[in-house]
Amino acid sequence: MENGFQKEREQLKKMKRTVESCPFRTRYHIMPPVGWLNDPNGLCQFRGVYHAYFQYSPLNVHGGGGFWGHCMSRDLLHWEYKEPVLTTDIPEDESGVYSGSALIENDRMYLFYTGNVKKPGDYDYIDAGRISTQILTESEDGQHMSEKVKLLGMEDYPEDMTQHIRDPKVWKENGRYFMVLGARRRDWDSRGNRSDKGGMLLYTSGDKRKWSLYQEYVPEKPFGYMWECPDIFCLGGRKILSFCPQGLPSEAEKYQNIYQSGYSFLEDGQSPEESFHEWDMGFDFYAPQTFETEDKRRILIGWAGMPDTEKIHRNLSVKNGWQHCLTIPTELTFHDGRIFRMPVRELEDLPWAKMKKENGRYHWADRTVRLQIKEINGNRQTIRLGNEKNGLTILADGDRVELSFSGNSGNLSRCGGGRGRRTGRVEGMVREMLVIIDSSIVEVFVNSGETVFTTRIYLEKEERELDVSGCSGCEIVAI
Ligand code: FRU
Repeated sequence: MENGFQKEREQLKKMKRTVESCPFRTRYHIMPPVGWLNDPNGLCQFRGVYHAYFQYSPLNVHGGGGFWGHCMSRDLLHWEYKEPVLTTDIPEDESGVYSGSALIENDRMYLFYTGNVKKPGDYDYIDAGRISTQILTESEDGQHMSEKVKLLGMEDYPEDMTQHIRDPKVWKENGRYFMVLGARRRDWDSRGNRSDKGGMLLYTSGDKRKWSLYQEYVPEKPFGYMWECPDIFCLGGRKILSFCPQGLPSEAEKYQNIYQSGYSFLEDGQSPEESFHEWDMGFDFYAPQTFETEDKRRILIGWAGMPDTEKIHRNLSVKNGWQHCLTIPTELTFHDGRIFRMPVRELEDLPWAKMKKENGRYHWADRTVRLQIKEINGNRQTIRLGNEKNGLTILADGDRVELSFSGNSGNLSRCGGGRGRRTGRVEGMVREMLVIIDSSIVEVFVNSGETVFTTRIYLEKEERELDVSGCSGCEIVAI
């Protein structure tokens, strides 16, 4: 793997220097060492150490894939970046080592991913020109991978599926292995127009190598034309499906991004779209993946970014040679009929210190901030990041929370890079809020994680001010 990089080493070194001096670098959020990052992959804890892999294009800040990047951590917050572990070196993955997952068993790591091939030519890459192969590779240390083994190819998928089949998530249940894949089924509406349906394929195996189709699931009523990054797990006695449907029409306070990601309860007789809940109401959240820690916590990490939005939501780090990051790792809990998502408890253990106002305001420059407001109780509460001209307002009022990148002239703020407004609601009223600001990413956890907003923000260091009004029981700490 290291050898594959020899040629580009000089270019990478230069790029790394620009990235290292970028004011938008994150401290506790996984970001690409250089270039572009998208989905988290292969999340796991292996011999006590957390491993996070990610879709990675070190040489192209605008993406294009080519690698699984790798980093390791002991606390889910301080990450050590390693050399990429996978690249496009077999015919089955020549156009991309796409997303996938890890399974730890008998002190060994098994990584499952999709090898993507896009044949050169005039194809639509839906019904023709694309080959999606599910592949396994193994590791004893999380860094060095064994030979790649093909598990499933086009000949193994149901006939009615298009060529979009990817993102294996594998788990063990009652002595058998299961693999869920995101899929797109060929379909037509009543007028005969093409109207594909998103769904999933479930495969099962006794040995992780020979797989057979267990279930093809496509809802009767269409819920998007394609599902990406499915993940099935148990939480609080319920079976959960997390997935990313593409093609849901956007509504005023729902499905506000180009593609969605959310979860449903997998219950007999109920189809996933009936109980679908969005994971996040912010501008930048997609392709989350979960894993279980050795102490049995269910952790979710998402990509704090969106595909196909480069023209509308700019990331101002691009000029410094990198783009996108992952979310803070969050722990999922199930109660009151739904899932709550809060930063992992390790975050609280950081040596936070109380912030003091200077000239009537908080200035955070290159510090990471943790702001907690405990007694909102449905009252109007605003938090302003940045100054009057250029900033983000977080507004809570009744059961509603709104994030809005606007300046006092009413124009969009430069620091939002094209982002405007997002709205979300909670049951009853907004009681409390936790806001984490790590350089260029803001995460807002409302009512202990009932509703979460993730967004990127690009304020220069001297513009990094914080103003909180209408609050009681407010604690602001920084590190
Ligand atoms: C989601 C996704 C996956 C795919 C990967 C490729 O963002 O499109 O479906 O495996 O990205 O980078």
